[in-house]
Amino acid sequence: MIKEKADLVIEKANELITLCHTNATPIKKERMQNLGIIKSGSIAIRNGKIISVGNARTIKHKFKPKRIIDASGKTVMPGFVDSHTHLIFAGSREEEFKKQLQGASYLEILEKGGGILSTVRETRKASKAELVSSGRKTLDVMLKHGTTTVEAKSGYGLTTKDEIKCLQTMKELSIAHPIDIVPTFLGAHALPIEYAGKSDEYVSLVTDEMIPAITERRLAEFCDVFCEKGAFDFMQSKKILLKGKKCGLKLKIHADELTNQNGAELAAEVGCVSAEHLLFSSETGLKAMAKKGVIAILLPAASFSLSTKRFANAKEILELGVPMALGTDFNPICWTENMQEIITLACRLMHIAPAEAIVASTINAAYAIDRGQEVGSLEKGKKADIIVLDIPNHEHLGYRFGVNLVDKVVKGGCVVVD
Ligand code: NIG
Ligand code: FE
Repeated sequence: MIKEKADLVIEKANELITLCHTNATPIKKERMQNLGIIKSGSIAIRNGKIISVGNARTIKHKFKPKRIIDASGKTVMPGFVDSHTHLIFAGSREEEFKKQLQGASYLEILEKGGGILSTVRETRKASKAELVSSGRKTLDVMLKHGTTTVEAKSGYGLTTKDEIKCLQTMKELSIAHPIDIVPTFLGAHALPIEYAGKSDEYVSLVTDEMIPAITERRLAEFCDVFCEKGAFDFMQSKKILLKGKKCGLKLKIHADELTNQNGAELAAEVGCVSAEHLLFSSETGLKAMAKKGVIAILLPAASFSLSTKRFANAKEILELGVPMALGTDFNPICWTENMQEIITLACRLMHIAPAEAIVASTINAAYAIDRGQEVGSLEKGKKADIIVLDIPNHEHLGYRFGVNLVDKVVKGGCVVVD
C-alpha cells in the first residue's frame, strides 16, 4: 500500500483527547464528561491542518511523515483557548495588591482613581512599540503553557486614539506571534478621570466616535462592556452593545462580577455570544442565557486574585444547561498566563470535574470567541493546534498544580515549544 505524505505525526499518546463532537455547537451538561479519548492514539498533520486522527496502528499504516513525535505515556490534546484576557497594558499593580491584602476592595480602589484607572495612565503613556514588546512577552509565556489562541480586550486606553493604539498592537502581535489573537473592543471598561460625573457623555463618545472608528479600521471582532456598579449601568451597557451590533461587531459582556446588574439578562436580550464572570447573576438571568445559548465564560482566577472568596456557581450554570467556557482574565491584577492553573482553580474552587474543565478550556472556549469551526478539538480539517502534556491521562489536569505540564506545543502544524 502506498502511504500518504504527512508533515508530522504525533503518535502513541496514552490518551489522545479529540473532543470530537457531532453537532457544531458548544458541549453541555453530561456530554462534557465525554472527551472523545483514543487510547494509544495518533494524529497526522499536513499543511498546518489535521488530516487524520485515530489509533496508532492505523495511522502508522496510512502515513509516511517527515517527522514523528513519540507521545508514549503522555496526553495529547487541543491547544488551550484562553477566551478572556486583557492582554495589552503597561505597568503593573503590586502596590494595589498590597492594599488589597490589607482589606481594600476592588471598587474602593477604583473609586479612588486606582485599579483600572492607574493602568490607563500607564498605557496612555506607552508607545505602540513598548506595548508590542510587553505583549510579546506575555504571549511567549502563554504559548509555553499550552495556549494557542487568545481573545484580547482593549480597555486601558479609553480615548479613541489610545484604544486604536492598543487594538493595533494586537493586530501586529497576531501577525508576528504564533498565537492567534481574537480582538475585542472594550472602550467601556471604566469611566476615565476626565469624564468623572459625566458618564453619559463618555458613553456617547464610545458609541458615536470610538465604535465607528474601530469598525472602519476593522480592528475588532467583538464589542464588550463592563456592566457594573462604578462602571457602566444596564442602560448604558445596552446602548453600547446595540451600537456595536449595528456596526457589525459580535457581543460580549462583563456581567454581574461584583454585584447583580442583570447582566446575564442583558446578554440574552441583546444576543451576546458570551457573558463573562457571572458571580452574582440571578437564576432568571442564567436561564435566559441557557435559552439563547449565550456561553458563560467563568474566570476563577479573577476571584482568586481579588481574594473575594466568592466564585461563579459553576454547578448551577452547568445544570441549567448554559454552555460553559473558562479563561484566565489575564490583566494587571490577575496576572496569570497559565490555563492549566485555571483548570486547577476551576476544579478545586468551583468544584467541576477535570473533564468539564478541559471542555471549557478548549472547544467551548473556541465557540465563545467564534473559533469553534477552526480550533478547540482534534478533528480532520481543523488547525493543527496541539499540545503534548507530560501526564499519563487527562485527570492529572487539576489534580497536579503549580507546575507546567506542557512537553510540546504544535501551532498550525509547526512545533513551537519543544
Ligand atoms: O475582568 N472587571 C473588569 N475588568 C477586569 C479587571 C481589569 C483590571 O482591574 O485591570 C476583570 O476582572
Ligand atoms: Fe475581564
